[in-house]
Amino acid sequence: VKRVRTRHFQNAKRDGIKITGLTSYDQLTARIFDEAGVDFLLVGDSAGNNVLGYDTTLPVTVDELIPLTRAVAGAVSRAFVIGDMPFGSYESGAEEALHTAVRFMKEAGAHAVKLEGGERSHKQIRRIVQSGIPVMAHIGFTPQSEHGLGGHLIQGRGDQVEQLLADARSVQAAGAFAVVLEMVPSDAARQVTDALDIPTISVGAGPHCDGQLLVWTDWAGLTTGRIPKFVKQYADLAGVLSTAAHEWRDDVANGIYPGPEHSYE
Ligand code: KIV
Ligand code: NA
Repeated sequence: VKRVRTRHFQNAKRDGIKITGLTSYDQLTARIFDEAGVDFLLVGDSAGNNVLGYDTTLPVTVDELIPLTRAVAGAVSRAFVIGDMPFGSYESGAEEALHTAVRFMKEAGAHAVKLEGGERSHKQIRRIVQSGIPVMAHIGFTPQSEHGLGGHLIQGRGDQVEQLLADARSVQAAGAFAVVLEMVPSDAARQVTDALDIPTISVGAGPHCDGQLLVWTDWAGLTTGRIPKFVKQYADLAGVLSTAAHEWRDDVANGIYPGPEHSYE
Protein backbone atom coordinates (compact mmCIF):
# COMPACT_ATOMS: atom_id res chain seq x y z
CA VAL A 1 0.00 0.00 0.00
CA LYS A 2 1.06 3.56 -0.72
CA ARG A 3 1.85 5.63 2.33
CA VAL A 4 -0.25 8.68 3.10
CA ARG A 5 1.77 11.86 2.65
CA THR A 6 0.92 15.54 2.97
CA ARG A 7 -0.04 15.51 -0.73
CA HIS A 8 -2.93 13.17 0.20
CA PHE A 9 -4.34 15.88 2.49
CA GLN A 10 -4.20 18.51 -0.25
CA ASN A 11 -5.71 16.20 -2.88
CA ALA A 12 -8.48 15.12 -0.52
CA LYS A 13 -9.53 18.73 0.04
CA ARG A 14 -9.40 19.45 -3.70
CA ASP A 15 -11.43 16.32 -4.54
CA GLY A 16 -13.90 16.65 -1.66
CA ILE A 17 -12.84 13.35 -0.09
CA LYS A 18 -13.06 13.38 3.72
CA ILE A 19 -9.87 12.80 5.69
CA THR A 20 -10.02 10.52 8.77
CA GLY A 21 -7.82 10.47 11.85
CA LEU A 22 -7.80 8.85 15.26
CA THR A 23 -5.42 9.19 18.16
CA SER A 24 -3.28 6.15 18.95
CA TYR A 25 -0.75 5.59 21.70
CA ASP A 26 0.37 2.00 21.13
CA GLN A 27 1.20 -0.50 18.40
CA LEU A 28 -1.89 -2.71 18.84
CA THR A 29 -4.42 0.01 18.08
CA ALA A 30 -2.11 1.58 15.48
CA ARG A 31 -2.08 -1.67 13.49
CA ILE A 32 -5.88 -2.02 13.65
CA PHE A 33 -6.62 1.60 12.67
CA ASP A 34 -3.98 1.52 9.91
CA GLU A 35 -5.44 -1.65 8.39
CA ALA A 36 -8.92 -0.12 8.56
CA GLY A 37 -7.72 2.70 6.29
CA VAL A 38 -7.70 5.56 8.79
CA ASP A 39 -5.58 8.20 7.03
CA PHE A 40 -3.60 9.57 9.95
CA LEU A 41 -2.84 8.65 13.54
CA LEU A 42 -2.14 11.38 16.07
CA VAL A 43 -0.04 10.42 19.07
CA GLY A 44 -1.79 13.10 21.07
CA ASP A 45 -0.70 14.58 24.35
CA SER A 46 -4.17 13.31 25.32
CA ALA A 47 -2.01 10.29 26.25
CA GLY A 48 -1.62 12.28 29.46
CA ASN A 49 -5.25 11.59 30.35
CA ASN A 50 -5.68 8.29 28.53
CA VAL A 51 -2.43 6.45 29.20
CA LEU A 52 -0.50 8.21 31.94
CA GLY A 53 -3.35 9.07 34.31
CA TYR A 54 -2.96 12.85 34.50
CA ASP A 55 -5.96 15.18 34.89
CA THR A 56 -4.86 17.44 32.03
CA THR A 57 -2.35 17.42 29.19
CA LEU A 58 -0.16 20.01 30.91
CA PRO A 59 2.29 17.67 32.68
CA VAL A 60 3.04 15.60 29.56
CA THR A 61 6.67 15.68 28.40
CA VAL A 62 8.44 14.97 25.11
CA ASP A 63 10.26 12.09 26.81
CA GLU A 64 6.90 10.50 27.63
CA LEU A 65 5.49 10.87 24.11
CA ILE A 66 8.57 9.69 22.17
CA PRO A 67 8.25 5.97 23.03
CA LEU A 68 4.51 6.00 22.33
CA THR A 69 5.09 7.73 18.99
CA ARG A 70 7.82 5.22 18.10
CA ALA A 71 5.42 2.35 18.81
CA VAL A 72 2.73 3.83 16.55
CA ALA A 73 5.10 4.82 13.74
CA GLY A 74 6.66 1.37 13.77
CA ALA A 75 3.30 -0.37 13.45
CA VAL A 76 1.76 1.35 10.43
CA SER A 77 2.29 0.70 6.76
CA ARG A 78 -0.07 3.34 5.31
CA ALA A 79 -1.23 5.87 7.92
CA PHE A 80 0.49 9.23 8.39
CA VAL A 81 1.80 9.46 11.96
CA ILE A 82 1.82 12.80 13.74
CA GLY A 83 3.59 13.49 17.03
CA ASP A 84 1.90 16.04 19.29
CA MET A 85 4.26 18.64 20.75
CA PRO A 86 3.48 18.91 24.47
CA PHE A 87 3.05 22.02 26.61
CA GLY A 88 6.41 23.63 27.35
CA SER A 89 8.23 22.17 24.35
CA TYR A 90 7.81 24.98 21.78
CA GLU A 91 6.31 28.18 23.21
CA SER A 92 9.55 30.00 23.96
CA GLY A 93 10.61 30.30 20.34
CA ALA A 94 11.29 28.91 16.91
CA GLU A 95 14.56 27.19 17.88
CA GLU A 96 12.98 25.36 20.83
CA ALA A 97 10.11 24.32 18.58
CA LEU A 98 12.46 23.01 15.89
CA HIS A 99 14.49 21.11 18.49
CA THR A 100 11.35 19.34 19.73
CA ALA A 101 10.10 18.60 16.22
CA VAL A 102 13.45 17.10 15.26
CA ARG A 103 13.28 14.79 18.30
CA PHE A 104 9.89 13.44 17.16
CA MET A 105 11.27 12.80 13.67
CA LYS A 106 14.66 11.31 14.67
CA GLU A 107 13.87 9.45 17.87
CA ALA A 108 10.30 8.37 17.16
CA GLY A 109 10.03 8.12 13.38
CA ALA A 110 7.07 10.49 13.19
CA HIS A 111 6.03 11.78 9.77
CA ALA A 112 4.92 15.20 11.05
CA VAL A 113 4.28 17.13 14.25
CA LYS A 114 1.31 19.06 15.63
CA LEU A 115 1.37 22.08 17.87
CA GLU A 116 -1.27 24.38 19.35
CA GLY A 117 -1.88 28.04 18.59
CA GLY A 118 -2.61 30.29 15.62
CA GLU A 119 -0.90 33.67 15.26
CA ARG A 120 1.06 33.08 18.46
CA SER A 121 2.69 29.96 16.97
CA HIS A 122 3.36 31.37 13.48
CA LYS A 123 7.15 31.69 13.91
CA GLN A 124 7.43 28.17 15.34
CA ILE A 125 5.43 26.61 12.51
CA ARG A 126 7.43 28.45 9.86
CA ARG A 127 10.79 27.40 11.31
CA ILE A 128 9.80 23.72 11.53
CA VAL A 129 8.31 23.66 8.03
CA GLN A 130 11.41 25.36 6.58
CA SER A 131 13.44 22.48 7.99
CA GLY A 132 11.43 19.96 6.00
CA ILE A 133 9.10 18.76 8.74
CA PRO A 134 5.35 18.94 8.01
CA VAL A 135 3.26 20.70 10.67
CA MET A 136 -0.39 20.22 11.54
CA ALA A 137 -1.68 23.32 13.33
CA HIS A 138 -4.38 23.32 16.04
CA ILE A 139 -6.68 26.27 16.74
CA GLY A 140 -10.07 26.90 18.35
CA PHE A 141 -10.09 25.27 21.78
CA THR A 142 -6.47 24.43 22.61
CA PRO A 143 -6.34 22.21 25.72
CA GLN A 144 -2.80 23.25 26.69
CA SER A 145 -4.14 26.78 27.31
CA GLU A 146 -7.22 25.62 29.23
CA HIS A 147 -6.35 27.88 32.17
CA GLY A 148 -5.74 30.91 29.98
CA LEU A 149 -8.99 30.34 28.11
CA GLY A 150 -10.93 29.87 31.37
CA GLY A 151 -12.08 26.28 30.88
CA HIS A 152 -13.26 23.87 28.19
CA LEU A 153 -15.08 26.49 26.17
CA ILE A 154 -16.33 26.55 22.60
CA GLN A 155 -14.19 28.97 20.54
CA GLY A 156 -15.26 31.05 17.55
CA ARG A 157 -18.74 32.10 18.63
CA GLY A 158 -20.06 35.50 17.58
CA ASP A 159 -17.33 38.05 16.89
CA GLN A 160 -14.62 35.54 17.95
CA VAL A 161 -14.91 34.21 14.41
CA GLU A 162 -12.62 37.02 13.18
CA GLN A 163 -9.82 35.86 15.50
CA LEU A 164 -10.40 32.26 14.42
CA LEU A 165 -10.07 33.26 10.75
CA ALA A 166 -6.94 35.30 11.51
CA ASP A 167 -5.41 32.30 13.31
CA ALA A 168 -6.34 29.99 10.44
CA ARG A 169 -4.80 32.30 7.82
CA SER A 170 -1.71 32.73 9.95
CA VAL A 171 -0.96 28.99 10.26
CA GLN A 172 -1.60 28.51 6.54
CA ALA A 173 0.80 31.35 5.71
CA ALA A 174 3.38 29.79 8.04
CA GLY A 175 3.25 26.60 5.97
CA ALA A 176 1.06 24.21 7.98
CA PHE A 177 -0.26 21.37 5.77
CA ALA A 178 -3.54 21.08 7.73
CA VAL A 179 -5.22 22.65 10.74
CA VAL A 180 -7.25 21.08 13.53
CA LEU A 181 -10.32 23.05 14.64
CA GLU A 182 -11.35 21.95 18.12
CA MET A 183 -14.77 22.77 19.66
CA VAL A 184 -15.80 25.36 17.09
CA PRO A 185 -19.41 26.01 15.97
CA SER A 186 -20.19 24.37 12.62
CA ASP A 187 -20.83 27.65 10.85
CA ALA A 188 -17.54 29.20 11.95
CA ALA A 189 -15.72 26.01 10.91
CA ARG A 190 -17.39 26.21 7.49
CA GLN A 191 -16.16 29.80 7.07
CA VAL A 192 -12.61 28.76 7.97
CA THR A 193 -12.77 25.73 5.65
CA ASP A 194 -13.94 27.92 2.76
CA ALA A 195 -11.29 30.56 3.46
CA LEU A 196 -8.32 28.16 3.47
CA ASP A 197 -6.48 26.19 0.80
CA ILE A 198 -5.22 23.68 3.39
CA PRO A 199 -7.64 21.11 4.86
CA THR A 200 -9.41 21.69 8.16
CA ILE A 201 -9.68 18.73 10.54
CA SER A 202 -12.63 18.78 12.92
CA VAL A 203 -12.52 17.76 16.56
CA GLY A 204 -15.99 18.84 17.52
CA ALA A 205 -16.16 21.40 14.70
CA GLY A 206 -19.04 19.97 12.72
CA PRO A 207 -19.57 18.40 9.30
CA HIS A 208 -18.18 21.11 6.99
CA CYS A 209 -14.51 20.48 7.74
CA ASP A 210 -12.33 18.55 5.31
CA GLY A 211 -11.63 15.78 7.82
CA GLN A 212 -12.60 14.35 11.19
CA LEU A 213 -10.43 13.37 14.16
CA LEU A 214 -11.42 11.76 17.46
CA VAL A 215 -9.63 10.55 20.58
CA TRP A 216 -9.77 6.78 20.13
CA THR A 217 -10.52 5.91 23.76
CA ASP A 218 -13.60 8.20 23.71
CA TRP A 219 -14.70 6.95 20.28
CA ALA A 220 -14.37 3.27 21.26
CA GLY A 221 -16.09 3.65 24.63
CA LEU A 222 -13.02 2.78 26.68
CA THR A 223 -13.17 6.08 28.55
CA THR A 224 -15.43 5.65 31.57
CA GLY A 225 -15.57 9.32 32.60
CA ARG A 226 -17.42 12.17 30.96
CA ILE A 227 -17.01 12.40 27.19
CA PRO A 228 -17.70 15.50 25.08
CA LYS A 229 -20.99 15.94 23.20
CA PHE A 230 -19.27 15.83 19.80
CA VAL A 231 -18.03 12.25 20.27
CA LYS A 232 -20.03 9.41 18.71
CA GLN A 233 -19.15 6.14 20.41
CA TYR A 234 -18.57 3.32 17.93
CA ALA A 235 -17.99 0.56 20.51
CA ASP A 236 -18.33 -0.21 24.21
CA LEU A 237 -14.83 -1.42 25.01
CA ALA A 238 -15.19 -0.60 28.69
CA GLY A 239 -18.27 -2.83 28.85
CA VAL A 240 -16.61 -5.64 26.88
CA LEU A 241 -13.52 -5.60 29.11
CA SER A 242 -15.50 -5.31 32.31
CA THR A 243 -17.68 -8.31 31.41
CA ALA A 244 -14.59 -10.32 30.47
CA ALA A 245 -12.83 -9.44 33.73
CA HIS A 246 -15.86 -10.42 35.82
CA GLU A 247 -16.29 -13.72 33.97
CA TRP A 248 -12.62 -14.60 34.18
CA ARG A 249 -12.40 -13.80 37.90
CA ASP A 250 -15.46 -16.02 38.53
CA ASP A 251 -14.13 -18.83 36.32
CA VAL A 252 -10.86 -18.92 38.24
CA ALA A 253 -12.69 -18.81 41.57
CA ASN A 254 -14.96 -21.67 40.48
CA GLY A 255 -12.22 -23.87 38.98
CA ILE A 256 -13.55 -23.48 35.41
CA TYR A 257 -10.39 -21.83 34.14
CA PRO A 258 -7.92 -23.29 33.28
CA GLY A 259 -9.50 -26.37 31.74
CA PRO A 260 -7.56 -29.31 30.27
CA GLU A 261 -7.38 -27.56 26.87
CA HIS A 262 -5.45 -24.70 28.48
CA SER A 263 -3.06 -26.96 30.39
CA TYR A 264 0.09 -28.92 29.44
CA GLU A 265 0.27 -32.72 29.95
O1 KIV B 1 -4.03 15.29 22.06
C1 KIV B 1 -5.00 15.10 21.30
O2 KIV B 1 -5.63 14.03 21.27
C2 KIV B 1 -5.39 16.21 20.40
C3 KIV B 1 -6.60 16.10 19.56
C4 KIV B 1 -7.85 15.93 20.34
C5 KIV B 1 -6.70 17.24 18.63
O3 KIV B 1 -4.70 17.18 20.36
NA1 NA C 1 -3.15 17.42 21.93
